[in-house]
Amino acid sequence: SQASSSLQQVLEPSTYSDDENPGVDWDNLGFYMMRTDYMYMTKCTKGECFEQGQLSRYGNIELSPAAGVLNYGQGLFEGTKAYRSEDGRLLLFRPEQNAIRMKMGAERMCMPSPSIDQFVDAVKQTAIANKRWIPPAGKGSLYLRPLLMGSGQILGLGAAPEYIFLIYVSPVGNYFKEGFAPLNLYVEEEFDRASRGGTGGVKSVTNYAPGLKPLTRAKSRGFSDVLYLDSVNKKFIEEVSSCNIFILKGNVIASPAANGTILEGVTRKSIIDIARENGYQVEERVITIDELIDADEVFCTGTAVGVAPVGSVTYKGQRIEFKTGPHTVSQELYTTLEGIKRGLIKDNKGWIVEI
Ligand code: COI
Repeated sequence: SQASSSLQQVLEPSTYSDDENPGVDWDNLGFYMMRTDYMYMTKCTKGECFEQGQLSRYGNIELSPAAGVLNYGQGLFEGTKAYRSEDGRLLLFRPEQNAIRMKMGAERMCMPSPSIDQFVDAVKQTAIANKRWIPPAGKGSLYLRPLLMGSGQILGLGAAPEYIFLIYVSPVGNYFKEGFAPLNLYVEEEFDRASRGGTGGVKSVTNYAPGLKPLTRAKSRGFSDVLYLDSVNKKFIEEVSSCNIFILKGNVIASPAANGTILEGVTRKSIIDIARENGYQVEERVITIDELIDADEVFCTGTAVGVAPVGSVTYKGQRIEFKTGPHTVSQELYTTLEGIKRGLIKDNKGWIVEI
């Protein structure tokens, strides 16, 4: 393929390690950073943008102390996964969707962005270079983390004069320590995740650190994650700090409409399509916290998280429980999505990119 031929140019002669087992305990993967073989990096300087991408050994990068990303948070990240199928194929899931989202985010953050082709080619090259880190079929996946950042120095507030696009990877298993067990969410009433006109709808790095305080507090009280409400009325559900949220009542599935404060998750979008195909009515709209309390099922979606059932939501001191287990709609949707991603179910939507 095109990706593997450009990979050869960059890495030969080298100690490129192919399928040699890196010594990972594939049965006990969590969501932790593991040092892998290669990362991808390219720059945008003086109009020359993201063309000469290079794979290099994974390691630290050098940045000016005055880099735009360090001082003013001019940065975006993405997340996408590579899987190994039972018959040994290496599969990516909708990487062009991440490329499109990075483009939208870059526009909001005044950054140049890689083209869709540059992004997807970079993801392919990085996955292939690190293929021995893609877990065996059924054991997890290789998480690819593309970053776009203002690397040029800038003292007064403004857009940086230079940008880095890079991708690093780590093999991962379940995001939450709960594993496949249902999540217990805490409805955050003091802090907000996003506000109208802000950056909640794009994957800006600045959306995440402010969530650490409520997240840490909720975790110390035994919760899995925080569910945010809208910042104006404190009445409508928005999203969880690491993923999107869905509710089910009868045959109707609903998720908060992506109106600028909700991150348009690739998994969210895919689950909406699968649910419609499976005969559910799916609505993207405003959802009150009272509706959530009255739901039959609640579940979360995200690239890192996958599809995770919610066992309870705690709001104003009251713990509300939801149906979980093997005979739930969230389990049905999870099985279909995972089947497609792992090559077990035929992909009739053009979602899978084989590398
Ligand atoms: C992802 O799901 O890929 C994300 O970027 C969320 C992050 C909090 C791990």
